[in-house]
Amino acid sequence: MITTSNDARIYRGSVLKKPLRKAVLPVAGLGTRFLPATKAMPKEMLPVVDRPLVQYAIDEAREAGIDQFCLITGRGKDSLIDYFDVAFELETTLRERNKLALLETLEPSSIEAGSLAAVRQQEPLGLGHAIWCARSFIGDDPFAILLPDDIIKGGRGCLSQLVDVYNETGGNVVAVTEVPRDYTNRYGILDVGQDDGRTVEVKGLVEKPDPSVAPSNLSIIGRYILRPEIMTHLSKLERGAGGEVQLTDAMAKLIGDMPFHGLRYEGTRYDCGDKAGFLEAQIAFAIDRPDLGPAVKAFLRKYI
Ligand code: G1P
Repeated sequence: MITTSNDARIYRGSVLKKPLRKAVLPVAGLGTRFLPATKAMPKEMLPVVDRPLVQYAIDEAREAGIDQFCLITGRGKDSLIDYFDVAFELETTLRERNKLALLETLEPSSIEAGSLAAVRQQEPLGLGHAIWCARSFIGDDPFAILLPDDIIKGGRGCLSQLVDVYNETGGNVVAVTEVPRDYTNRYGILDVGQDDGRTVEVKGLVEKPDPSVAPSNLSIIGRYILRPEIMTHLSKLERGAGGEVQLTDAMAKLIGDMPFHGLRYEGTRYDCGDKAGFLEAQIAFAIDRPDLGPAVKAFLRKYI
């Protein structure tokens, strides 16, 4: 296990080990990379096989023990809230027609009354600003962030793996992966302290550095567990890379005050914010499905 600083140990002795029950899902983005498909529907409602992107994030959060959710939405994104509501007519019709298997497919999209909050990010000022919009929902609790663009396929869910580390170390934990050096300007990049090959101590963080100055090629992907103290830094609404309020900059300010670790998670990440990544996710998930796999493998051979 990685040791932490004295400050961090004092911190560990005090407020630590509040269980993680809350998750924030930023879904306010305009989805410009998928226009025109996203002109009139949220990007997060695009399906991978037959489930919308946002459903994958909710499933992963639930597996990790989360039972309170907050969507950070924007104008034109209300269908995301409808998706998690009761679909009274549809459900009644399916029940009357005895289509019980179809009815069952709706179950993951139901969230208990009072367990889903939605906040509007009124202006697109960056990921840090989006998270700050959830401050009333977060209060004094630790929370997870899941960016629905990233889908991680594998055995144990990525967020569950982060929870394991959080339960050991407390503080902040982010999912990390090595990216090609040329890509550092697309991600939050770690300055790495102690590293046991799986868990790394975070010494510094930089948002989208040029490859020539990037402190490593270890990047943050869209899964975080953060302490509520992040809101103090976010509330300053300081602009960073790209003129946006960056979550990474606020996280960097927590380093030294409390433990901060990155986890090289197990699983394959698909960047569904990118067209090629989105298509690859379709294939990867479809091939694994008993009802679709054989047909998909057969037709793929025709194209290769
Ligand atoms: C955001 C974060 C970045 C992180 C990335 C993961 O960037 O700002 O630090 O590495 O998500 O997908 P975005 O993809 O919104 O530009």
